[in-house]
Amino acid sequence: MDIHLDFSNVMETNVGSEHGLTLDDFEALIPQGHEILTALRQKANDHSLEFYNLPFSEEQLDEIEKYAELARKRFDSYVHLGIGGSALGPIALHTSLAGSYYNLSDKKPKMFFPDNVDPDWVHELLQHIDVSKTLFHVVSKSGSTAETAAQMLYFVHHMTEMMGESFYKNLLFTTDPVEGLLNRIAREYPIKCFRIPPGVGGRFSVLTPVGLLSAALAGINIREILRGAREMARLCDTDNLMENPAYIYAVIHYLYMHRQKNISVMMAYSNRLRDLADWYRQLWAESLGKRFNTNGERVEVGQTPVKAVGATDQHSQVQLYVEGPNDKVITFLQVENFEENTPLKNHFTYIPEFDYLDGKTLAELLNSEKQATELALTNNQRPNLTIKFSAVNEANIGAFFFLLEAATAFAGGFLDINAFDQPGVEEGKIATYALMGRKGFEQKKEEIESLFARKKAFYL
Ligand code: PA5
Repeated sequence: MDIHLDFSNVMETNVGSEHGLTLDDFEALIPQGHEILTALRQKANDHSLEFYNLPFSEEQLDEIEKYAELARKRFDSYVHLGIGGSALGPIALHTSLAGSYYNLSDKKPKMFFPDNVDPDWVHELLQHIDVSKTLFHVVSKSGSTAETAAQMLYFVHHMTEMMGESFYKNLLFTTDPVEGLLNRIAREYPIKCFRIPPGVGGRFSVLTPVGLLSAALAGINIREILRGAREMARLCDTDNLMENPAYIYAVIHYLYMHRQKNISVMMAYSNRLRDLADWYRQLWAESLGKRFNTNGERVEVGQTPVKAVGATDQHSQVQLYVEGPNDKVITFLQVENFEENTPLKNHFTYIPEFDYLDGKTLAELLNSEKQATELALTNNQRPNLTIKFSAVNEANIGAFFFLLEAATAFAGGFLDINAFDQPGVEEGKIATYALMGRKGFEQKKEEIESLFARKKAFYL
């Protein structure tokens, strides 16, 4: 594992005193940081914060690898049915380590992650797969999320049309060990089930079969992912908090939240890393966006995470980041060693204006652009930091996941909120059940209907 956190450009010496932080700022929070670390360790030990232990648990790896090997032979396509924490990690793993064009290679199975219930999108996918040769992996911790349930029903209908009652042979579940509706189906049909350990919430579940199954299927080395996560977990457990990257990342963002910088941009200068920023968006938003603190006092905290991609968004967002409101902390993701390093050649020798590119690589260009953006931000007193990946590989990606999960837990501690629940999401889930007429939600439906009835419309 070789990833590093460069936070030079949040320091006062580089970004200026008005918007910069000092070593004293970091040190002042060390006693609280120790209390948070102790509490996290305690919860990990009593298994109430199980994501902390995941890098050290290789329990399900053999089973995942064996299953993936058999499935690779049996199926032409793989469809991942899940949403939120049950999809964003697997997608990020796939695009970072299998690549954006995996489905255009001769590898099998082709892999699809339709994490929405857009009917036309789902139908379009149906046109491109043979359901009888497709593995449908239904991933839901609760087993009851409306979107995932609906997608499953949609595809099961088409499966039964083609395969009759043997449809279940093309289903795979990853869910809670005991609870939930998927387990009820699995009691009726001998459907293979992988388990999400109790105490691991959706957005912290990428290092369980939620993320590892599809990764193994695409030929990604899942042991290396865990090895990287393990090394990072040790760093994030270090008592010397000034060398603890989770503490540093959390403190930077916590301090800036108190300075009205309530936007956290993650800008990946790498297309393979771009979906890590999507995963981060959910992690940071759902974990830290909370109305009440642990004492039940109204605090309404959180930072709005924004995803950006370099160099693409230099031509879209960076103008705003450099000159607009100074209300953001920007985290770059940078790759030090790209795989492709072929030098460019100026074929059009009669255009000397292109000569500066001759002999240079795309990697040099991309990283120079990152450096240029970093410089422009810093010169304009815009705090920014960089997570540097020596290369895009399994161990570094595993380390990244753990770093941000641990940083989120630390940030939750500083904010004194519960970073592991999502009452706002649950509210939306309940309203959806009510609107869709699910039994047991009649009263909620009435409430919603009366709210709608009272609503004054302004409509053009
Ligand atoms: O992080 C979370 O807990 C949520 O985003 C869930 O992952 C998401 O709502 C899907 O839930 P489930 O896995 O229960 O279907």
